[in-house]
Amino acid sequence: MTTNPIYLALDFPRLETAIAVAQKAKAHIGGVKLGLEFFCAHGHHGVLEVHKLGLPIFLDLKLHDIPNTVAGAMQAIHVLEPAIVTVHAAGGRAMMEDAKAAAGENCKVVAVTLLTSLDGGDMAATGISGQPQDQVMRLAELARDSGLDGIVCSGHEVGAVHAMWRDGFLVVPGLRPADASLGDQKRAVTPRQARDAGASVLVIGRPIARAEDPAAAARAIEATL
Ligand code: C5P
Repeated sequence: MTTNPIYLALDFPRLETAIAVAQKAKAHIGGVKLGLEFFCAHGHHGVLEVHKLGLPIFLDLKLHDIPNTVAGAMQAIHVLEPAIVTVHAAGGRAMMEDAKAAAGENCKVVAVTLLTSLDGGDMAATGISGQPQDQVMRLAELARDSGLDGIVCSGHEVGAVHAMWRDGFLVVPGLRPADASLGDQKRAVTPRQARDAGASVLVIGRPIARAEDPAAAARAIEATL
C-alpha cells in the first residue's frame, strides 16, 4: 500500500465517470473507495475495471449478517483483492471474527460503529441507551477485541479512538479542506487535523471528485499533509 492516506470516494452512478475522475487524480491519492451503490450497480466487473488503474481499492460494503453469510461474502470478494473492507460492528463478535478469518492476508477489515446519520433518538428507538459517543467507543472496543484491523469514525472521534487503540487502522470520512466553502458544515474537520489526530486513511469524495480540476484539488490536499 502506498503511504498517501487519501482514498478518493468514487460516488458516481456511471462506471466511466468514476474511472475518468480517478484517472485524473491518480498521482495524488493513495487509493479509491467504492461503495455499496457502485458494487450493486457494477459488481465484480466494475471493481476489476477500476483495478486497472493500479490503485488499492477500499470496498465499503458495510457487511452485516449472520457470521456464516458474512464470511461467505468475504470469500466471494477475495478475488477482487480489496485493500480494505467494511463490516458493521453491530453484527457482533462472532461475525467480526469470521469476517477477519475469511479475509485475504493483505486485506484490512474495519468496522463501522454508529452511522453518522443516527442520533441519540434513533439509538433509543432501537433500544440502545446512552450517547452516540459512548456507543462508538463501546463498538470500537468490541471491534478491537474481535481481532479487526480498525474502525471507521468521524474526525471528531478519531483522537479518542486513537488514544484507546494505538495501532488501530482508523478510517475517517466526512472531511473538508481548510479552504473549502463550509456551508452548513461549520464543524468540519480538515484532512490534516484528522491525520494529526491519528487517522490512517482519509476518505475524501466531493472536494476532489466534484472539483473542476480533480488533480489540482487532490494535489492541494496532499500538500497539506
Ligand atoms: O462528503 P464526501 O463526498 O467527501 O464523502 C466521501 C465518502 O464518505 C462518501 O462515500 C460518504 O458516503 C462517506 N461519508 C461517510 N460518513 C460521513 C460522511 C461521508 O461515510 N459522515
